[in-house]
Amino acid sequence: MPEPWATTRTEIAGIAVAELARRFGTPLFVYDQAVVVERIGSLARFDHVRYAQKACSNLAVLDLMRRHGVLVDAVSAGEIHRATRAGYRPAGTPPAIVYTADIFDADALDQCARLDLHVNCGSPDMIDQWGRRSPGREITLRLNPGFGHGHSRKTNTGGKQSKHGIWHEQLAECVARAQQYGLTVAGLHMHIGSGTDLEHLSRVCQAMETAAVEAGPQVTSISAGGGLPVPYQAGERYVDLDAYYERWNATRLRLEDRFRHPVRLEIEPGRYLTAEAGYLVAEIRAVKRQADNTFYLVDAGFNNLARPILYGAYHPMAITPADGDTARSHRDVIVGGPLCESGDIFTQEEGGFVVARRLPEARVGDLLVIENAGAYGFVMGSNYNSKPLAAEVLLRSDGPHLIRRRQSVEELLQGESIPAPPTDHAAPHS
Ligand SMILES: Cc1ncc(COP(=O)(O)O)c(C=O)c1O
Repeated sequence: MPEPWATTRTEIAGIAVAELARRFGTPLFVYDQAVVVERIGSLARFDHVRYAQKACSNLAVLDLMRRHGVLVDAVSAGEIHRATRAGYRPAGTPPAIVYTADIFDADALDQCARLDLHVNCGSPDMIDQWGRRSPGREITLRLNPGFGHGHSRKTNTGGKQSKHGIWHEQLAECVARAQQYGLTVAGLHMHIGSGTDLEHLSRVCQAMETAAVEAGPQVTSISAGGGLPVPYQAGERYVDLDAYYERWNATRLRLEDRFRHPVRLEIEPGRYLTAEAGYLVAEIRAVKRQADNTFYLVDAGFNNLARPILYGAYHPMAITPADGDTARSHRDVIVGGPLCESGDIFTQEEGGFVVARRLPEARVGDLLVIENAGAYGFVMGSNYNSKPLAAEVLLRSDGPHLIRRRQSVEELLQGESIPAPPTDHAAPHS
């Protein structure tokens, strides 16, 4: 674990940060493939690893997952397209692509039916809509066990305030509802962000077991969902994978014993596979001194990395000095972006409280590297202030590969049109 994080960085996976910025421009997302591959390997004990592509869905990342035997989750028609474009074929057991959501929009329902996808229903209405459209299939149900967990109030995915999953008390009713359409509830899924808290995880496993027993022996798979944590700052920890697996495996074994048939155990991480592989490289464009505050203003904002403004999320940061001087003194600074929005600050805590970070003295032209930015980074990007989406680069052993070029102004305006003037020749509004 890279702790404590260095506040000066000249290389990413052996490649000069300055060279990456020169070659591909900034803001730039850089992903180190070796980290992703190492993470996949660490989960080998699970029967199946299903990547929650919402964390980082570039086609090259999906292709990497697929080539390393990782299955994929999709939450929209767009993510289904991405999965198939990256080479995933829907057919098979276990299904290579699973659609997990709380609703079908019209596109997603069409896509799932057309490709005969496996569907994991997060609401009773989904069962009806799928049953009418595609009767006679196997489905899984995403359950809300009545309690949750998560690194922020906005990421808590269980409990009565959460919109996710089928409420646990409605399980029996939903199994019966599925039967009306000839659908078989062949698996159960719970994603409630259990984090590092193994005691909480035991409650989740218990809730899964109770639910599976209620659903009956037609259940042939259980999914632990995602939520494996990565440390973003000193004091945070990875989960003890042995203990984590042990709890889930024990649950699975008890169900196998009861049902007298095999039960597959899946895990569905996003962040764990990609967060630490990713870096957001930005250039410092202004250094402002206001009373006793110093601001480093960079060319990346919450249009590139929204986690700080959304959750007050902490990301390690480092400076790449343009002159190569790695022994600069440090000062407390506030780091912000270019957007016309007061909340465009990378050093903020939950609730929007701006805080300072101790970083090396920096000047215009130095680079800022925001670390652990590979999950829920680029994918949450926007065009706010008409900023183009950033470029993305994958670092492989044979060097850096551009896997998404920076969005052009033409692409930014694509699809927009100005209606023809009204035909009644009314005077235009001034
Ligand atoms: C259904 C589902 N599975 C898996 C994940 C992945 O979570 P994480 O990135 O925390 O592992 C998410 C994240 O929101 C999710 O909604």
